[in-house]
Amino acid sequence: MTQNLGAPLPVFHDRHCDLSIIRGKRVAVIGYGSQGRTHALNLRDSGVSDIVVGLKADSATRQKAAADGFEVRTAGEAADGADVVAVMVSDEAHRDLWREELAPAMKPGAALIFAHGLSVRFGLVEPRTDLDVILASPKGIGPRIRELFEAGEGVFCLFGVHQDATGGAHALGLSYAAALGCGRKGILETTFAAECESDLFGEQVVLCGGTVELVDAAFMKLVEAGYPAEVAWFECFYELKLVVDLMHRLGPAGAFARISNTAEFGAYLTGPRVIGEASRAAMDTVLAEVRSGAFVKRLMADHDAGAPELLARRRALGQREIEAVGARLAEIGSRARDD
Ligand SMILES: NC(=O)c1ccc[n+]([C@@H]2O[C@H](COP(=O)([O-])OP(=O)(O)OC[C@H]3O[C@@H](n4cnc5c(N)ncnc54)[C@H](OP(=O)(O)O)[C@@H]3O)[C@@H](O)[C@H]2O)c1
Repeated sequence: MTQNLGAPLPVFHDRHCDLSIIRGKRVAVIGYGSQGRTHALNLRDSGVSDIVVGLKADSATRQKAAADGFEVRTAGEAADGADVVAVMVSDEAHRDLWREELAPAMKPGAALIFAHGLSVRFGLVEPRTDLDVILASPKGIGPRIRELFEAGEGVFCLFGVHQDATGGAHALGLSYAAALGCGRKGILETTFAAECESDLFGEQVVLCGGTVELVDAAFMKLVEAGYPAEVAWFECFYELKLVVDLMHRLGPAGAFARISNTAEFGAYLTGPRVIGEASRAAMDTVLAEVRSGAFVKRLMADHDAGAPELLARRRALGQREIEAVGARLAEIGSRARDD
């Protein structure tokens, strides 16, 4: 069954990384959200002393970065003179940020670091040829990466070099990833395209799009068949976390060893019927849209128009029946505490 897996990726740990490289650099962290704050704090705790945070002049986040003890400038000012510019802003903002602030300001031979390959893979950012261009994508949400770092642990990191203008991009990127704490766990070398395309596919098909629709469709099916909404909510939504936590810890087979035989037997019969040929064909379409750039084109068109589609769909999601049942149960739970 493993013949299609391909060769294992090259893996690096702390012993393969030279922290002194990043410690000697002036690093501009652009953005201070989920990833940016964690990158800045972990870099500083790893001995990088010259860090500047880049934010918009009117950003509400400026206060937070300043309270954490960082010098805060605009993105262009932060990038000016920096050896390393870590682009930690939302992906739709990369194109304009690059053109308007970073490209004119970055010094020759500096390095651009991304936590997601999207903007480079799809040409939203076309880096100058004199720059090193590196991917350091820790596999975790920012606050959790920080929490683990403080506990002496780390998360896996997908790492790649898109452009090695100086000959030092690989060593610099490893040094940066190690400073995030990822050398404690494993830094896996891949490409911007592999990271980005599989990330978009995974979040659309499984993590976000697929899961939300599967849960909602099953919940509504039970409600429409006359089952109490609360019961449907527990069975199709609430217990998902229990099973996902088990799978995360033990893998699918390990998790199935812990559930009842009834659940396991039913899963074997029904899983392949729910995720059958139609679902696989839909996955082919999604992957084709991701690879061709059609998805990113649509994302950016919506962004440029002020995000009408994103906002309308977000509103509609919040109005689904499953949300009302969740709110009803949350209210019951809080009432019990007040009694
Ligand atoms: N979230 C994750 O767990 C995760 C995981 C892996 C990779 N990534 C990648 O990490 C990158 C950052 O994502 P994120 O989730 O950390 O973003 P985020 O939490 O939304 O934070 C974005 C930050 O960028 C700032 N910003 C936005 N536009 C800017 C501009 N033009 N100039 C300067 N600052 C600007 C925002 O400031 P304001 O407060 O002023 O808006 C905010 O501080 C993305 O490439 C993402 O794909 C994220």
